[in-house]
Amino acid sequence: MNVRADLIENARLVLPDQVLEPGWLAIHDGVIVEIGEGRAPERGIDLGGDFLLPGFIELHTDHLESHFHPRPRVRWHPLSAVMAYDAQIIAAGVTTVFDSLRAGSDTEGGMPNSDLWSLAEALDEARDGGYLRAEHRTHLRCEVATHDVLDEVTRFAGRFPIHVISLMDHTPGQRQFRDVELWKIYFTGKTARTEAEANAVVERRLALHQANASRHRRELVAFAQAHDIALASHDDATAEHVVESIADGVAIAEFPTTHEAAGLSHEAGIRVMMGGPNVVRGGSHSGNIAAEDLAREGLLDIISSDYVPASLAMAVFMLAERVESISLPEAVRMITLNPARAAGLHDRGAIAVGQRADCLQVHLAGNVPIVRRVWRQGGQVV
Ligand SMILES: [Fe+2]
Repeated sequence: MNVRADLIENARLVLPDQVLEPGWLAIHDGVIVEIGEGRAPERGIDLGGDFLLPGFIELHTDHLESHFHPRPRVRWHPLSAVMAYDAQIIAAGVTTVFDSLRAGSDTEGGMPNSDLWSLAEALDEARDGGYLRAEHRTHLRCEVATHDVLDEVTRFAGRFPIHVISLMDHTPGQRQFRDVELWKIYFTGKTARTEAEANAVVERRLALHQANASRHRRELVAFAQAHDIALASHDDATAEHVVESIADGVAIAEFPTTHEAAGLSHEAGIRVMMGGPNVVRGGSHSGNIAAEDLAREGLLDIISSDYVPASLAMAVFMLAERVESISLPEAVRMITLNPARAAGLHDRGAIAVGQRADCLQVHLAGNVPIVRRVWRQGGQVV
């Protein structure tokens, strides 16, 4: 029997607004060219009734860091770290990943600038060598209160493309860390410093915030607008933050920390992003709002894997099951179509004719989704 490698059949095909059970699709030159319901016209790759989802689009993952920086004061070989990260990302079903790289020095928190350059060079080497299975793009996380963030971004742009810029301010007392005491617990736990040392760091960071934050934010916004780079705000907490985001042309609200900020952002057309682990665990690890509550109110647009790549698939199947008003296609859009469009990508993100053939086979083992095969631009990569 002749089995076509460019035809996928006997799948539960998750389209943007419906599921075809069963359905099939045909691929040509890396693009989806035909979709059908029922039995395929010829024999192709038989998914045995498993789901076929669009490849996931990941906008904000910390996961590269955990491969490069696996223990305090340990740095792994950057290219080896990049390859391990890529393997985990693609196996989680992510076909397009925005690698989160931090710009702005934080020597006290153990993250010197040299990390940014080591990782960017390793990613470039892996891309040039054709070693990567997911498509890697760049999300620069810009700490606006640091003294050197503008220099770093300018230098970076001279050597590498930038696709998303997020505006972050992790100064104690701001946004994610509105409670300075909670920040101290976080910081001393992460860096093994004493409370007196933490107090001194708080003083220094407040001074940097006063000196730099608003001016750097303005300049970064102008830079992103001039270079047509998608902007994300980070940890918006108040109505004032959202007003500022709207004025700055922000497309994505990463992890708003209050219900108010999430609601105002969503209403203004800024896509609200929350973490997959937050959905799966039923709340935020740092005590902020629960993503599932936002989803119930129709305020959640994008799920990012944050610190666990496998949380994407788990989160969407859980949401579709737990929240009656959210269908599986709608939940899947939160990790595919919505992040693609928010980041300015129009050629992928949906199982639809004319879109890139980035897709994956998902088998449900009970309620745990298992990614069994992944295709990128029609080529099987897992
Ligand atoms: Fe944050």
